[in-house]
Amino acid sequence: MKPGCSPLLLSGHLLLLCLTAICVLAAAADDVWPAGQRPGCPAKCGDIDIPFPFGLGEQCAFHNGFNLNCTTVDGATKLIWGNIEVTRVSVPDGKAWMVTGISWQCYFPSTRTVDYDKVWLDLTNTDFWISEVDNAITVIGCKALAYMTSSTYVIGCSSTCTDGVSLNNNTCDGARGCCQADVPKGVQYYEGYFNELYNTTEIWKDSPCNYMAVMEKEAFSFKTSYVNSTVFNDTYKGKVPVVLNWRIQPQTCEIAQTNMSSYACISRDSECVNTTGGNMLGYRCNCSHGYEGNPYIMNGCQDIDECANANPCGLEICQNTPGNFSCSCRPGYYETNGVCVPKTSHFQSMPIVGASIGFVVLVIFVACACLIRERTTLENMKQNYFRQHGGVILFNEMRSKEGNTFKIFREEELKQATDNFSEKNVLGHGGHGTVYKGLLKGNAVEVAVKKCKTIDDQHKKEFGKEMVILAQINHRNIVKLLGCCLEVEVPMLVYEFVPNGTLFHLIHGNHGQCVSLATRLGIAIESADALAYLHSSASIPILHGDVKTPNILLDGNHSAKVSDFGASILAPTDESQFVTLVQGTCGYLDPEYMQTCYLTDKSDVYSFGVVLVELLTGKIPFNLDAPEKEKSLAMMFMSAMKENRLADILDDQIKGEDNVEIIEEIAELAKVCLDMCGDNRPSMKEVTEKLDGLMKVMRHPWAQQNPEEMEGLLSEPMDNSTIGSAEFFSIEKKAINAMQSGR
Ligand SMILES: *[C@@H]1O[C@H](CO)[C@@H](O)[C@H](O)[C@H]1NC(C)=O
Ligand SMILES: *[C@@H]1O[C@H](CO)[C@@H](O)[C@H](O)[C@H]1NC(C)=O
Ligand SMILES: *[C@@H]1O[C@H](CO)[C@@H](O)[C@H](O)[C@H]1NC(C)=O
Ligand SMILES: *[C@@H]1O[C@H](CO)[C@@H](O)[C@H](O)[C@H]1NC(C)=O
Ligand SMILES: *[C@@H]1O[C@H](CO)[C@@H](O)[C@H](O)[C@H]1NC(C)=O
Ligand SMILES: *[C@@H]1O[C@H](CO)[C@@H](O)[C@H](O)[C@H]1NC(C)=O
Ligand SMILES: *[C@@H]1O[C@H](CO)[C@@H](O)[C@H](O)[C@H]1NC(C)=O
Ligand SMILES: *[C@@H]1O[C@H](CO)[C@@H](O)[C@H](O)[C@H]1NC(C)=O
Ligand SMILES: *[C@@H]1O[C@H](CO)[C@@H](O)[C@H](O)[C@H]1NC(C)=O
Repeated sequence: MKPGCSPLLLSGHLLLLCLTAICVLAAAADDVWPAGQRPGCPAKCGDIDIPFPFGLGEQCAFHNGFNLNCTTVDGATKLIWGNIEVTRVSVPDGKAWMVTGISWQCYFPSTRTVDYDKVWLDLTNTDFWISEVDNAITVIGCKALAYMTSSTYVIGCSSTCTDGVSLNNNTCDGARGCCQADVPKGVQYYEGYFNELYNTTEIWKDSPCNYMAVMEKEAFSFKTSYVNSTVFNDTYKGKVPVVLNWRIQPQTCEIAQTNMSSYACISRDSECVNTTGGNMLGYRCNCSHGYEGNPYIMNGCQDIDECANANPCGLEICQNTPGNFSCSCRPGYYETNGVCVPKTSHFQSMPIVGASIGFVVLVIFVACACLIRERTTLENMKQNYFRQHGGVILFNEMRSKEGNTFKIFREEELKQATDNFSEKNVLGHGGHGTVYKGLLKGNAVEVAVKKCKTIDDQHKKEFGKEMVILAQINHRNIVKLLGCCLEVEVPMLVYEFVPNGTLFHLIHGNHGQCVSLATRLGIAIESADALAYLHSSASIPILHGDVKTPNILLDGNHSAKVSDFGASILAPTDESQFVTLVQGTCGYLDPEYMQTCYLTDKSDVYSFGVVLVELLTGKIPFNLDAPEKEKSLAMMFMSAMKENRLADILDDQIKGEDNVEIIEEIAELAKVCLDMCGDNRPSMKEVTEKLDGLMKVMRHPWAQQNPEEMEGLLSEPMDNSTIGSAEFFSIEKKAINAMQSGR
């Protein structure tokens, strides 16, 4: 059989075709981030590339220390850092090329004086220092002793011209008009300094000036003309290049990795490297072995196609793999003991074997083609979702905020954390979706991952913006939103994990545990405070929209954490924006909302009223199996209050306690919260203050003997004008009266 007809040769071509396709598609999928710089940020200043973490303006730089300025002076475009000109920055080796001055010492025959210009460079309190590898202290002159100095070191060399020794181009050995000395490690400050005893007073006719510069070794080569003229200064126009090293942050890798929100190596396939250089402790990021690009931006590190240029497999077939490559035998050869040897002839004489190999090849090809298709559509889909969900806005916003702990997760990360959303990690199913427990790889933080079922178009667009707001919520009684994942059809939310179950479980669970009134009141206060914060303190009012006991989580000490606000909607900022589509829960839903479809902060107050009743009665808010009148707990409670038989429906666990007044007060409060008309309900802030007052009364029975102080305690938060209902005010008064009259 001629080699041209061999099915194996065909396979080689197909494989190559297949590989080319992978490469092309992989390249196409990465158009989201421009190479080396974040979206929306200029990647060039004139001809100079500006890779992230550097950037033009604070928004585009990792932090202000990497903020550059691109300006045009006298028609020349220049990149400026602080007040120093930058000619180049390099991310892979953590270097920046800047421009510094030349120090000089000249004799001026006209005035018969020696004059100086002593240049200094100050990088203290920055993340930059002078590279000891790339620079040298360079001194030029026939009678010069110059140093680079600071308050802690002096290092330099002496340059002379010895009689009878001729100067040579490219020779800088100390005896021929030039000397060089090594730069110490980790230098951030220096001043050029000339020893005055060595000057050109006596030799100015042959050599008017001495020069000293800390400059890039590679940019310097000695010329004989440097000694007897100002050529050196003129060549560089008084400015020489100096190579600086930089670190991204002043911590070692290990410490930086403990805080993922500020950790800079965010690209996949990147790694952290400690910086070395005297006491300049810190870290930088590098793409992992087999990858290249920018480790500081998302997806910045790209696989290197090792097969693209020189074939590392020699004559055999090279196949690129993520981070590496592999070699396989070319057609007509097979591998044995790691070497490719020609196939024996009896193989070729068996057409059936050939045909079956052909078939296998075909199968492989089809499988390969399918895989590629699937992969690209998947990757494209991810990118689309990310964009659709406002990921770019969110990403920029988050980067620019200091001290934020919000993270944008990759789908892979969350898959890994939740064991591929395994059934055994399900924490609960809700109206909106399913919550999984997860363990983040790396810093081993326990999280709750919420995977929602659907999202409507309006929210799709707004999602990134909403996240920006939700991420700023910081209250000890609200479950912290740690991050989100946008590259999926329905974004996923990642919350802090709260270990001790829900309030629903505490009240209705069959755990045989007695829950005291104080505990219940404490939980009520904390939840109310959290809702009040959402309504008023957060930068934009946020409505919860689904307040219920299953959404109040408890940590170790029965401290409440309100969850699931992420599913709610930001409060409308102007009257015309109606808020719709909230999915409340039966039994908790504000009756007014059901009529008007207009969600207000008072809807949350209503739902909270139901929670209060639940705390008092220990009954579930909606029971389909109960007789008609008792289906809704809120209705049952209201009629019990009306008929003055609160005691009948109280939870046995708190009935016995001698806190009858307190219980009655809470019941009264629940009653106003459950008012049919939203306007008559108190605000969450008022509810919190009221509950707080009751807690103080419970904690300090001594106040009975001290009615004035008591009055102070209780009346403090009162402000008649802000209270919507007269009834609410009267409760407050009653509490004071009850306490003053003793129980
Ligand atoms: C950039 O330089 C220009 C001109 O020197 C100056 O007006 C501007 O404030 C600078 N911007 C920053 C961010 O330093
Ligand atoms: C050094 O190089 C310059 C040109 O760069 C040349 O004019 C000069 O003659 C050279 N000197 C020696 C000693 O080779
Ligand atoms: C220059 O050097 C001479 C010695 O060569 C010294 O006497 C003189 O003081 C120096 N001049 C200055 C200005 O330091
Ligand atoms: C400097 O010295 C070189 C020889 O070393 C000579 O060719 C040149 O003309 C001199 N230049 C001046 C300005 O004296
Ligand atoms: C060196 O060059 C700079 C800029 O051209 C100039 O300001 C300075 O006076 C020069 N120094 C000497 C000693 O010629
Ligand atoms: C970084 O430096 C720290 C402290 O010097 C050391 O413990 C750690 O192993 C280093 N990490 C890497 C990745 O080199
Ligand atoms: C970082 O990556 C560059 C190539 O991208 C490589 O030359 C360098 O050695 C790496 N540094 C470390 C510390 O691994
Ligand atoms: C790359 O693959 C070769 C074998 O093909 C293996 O020896 C080497 O360790 C791999 N390198 C990495 C970084 O995985
Ligand atoms: C993590 O980094 C952020 C931003 O730099 C900072 O505000 C926060 O305090 C850090 N957290 C910890 C635990 O160090």
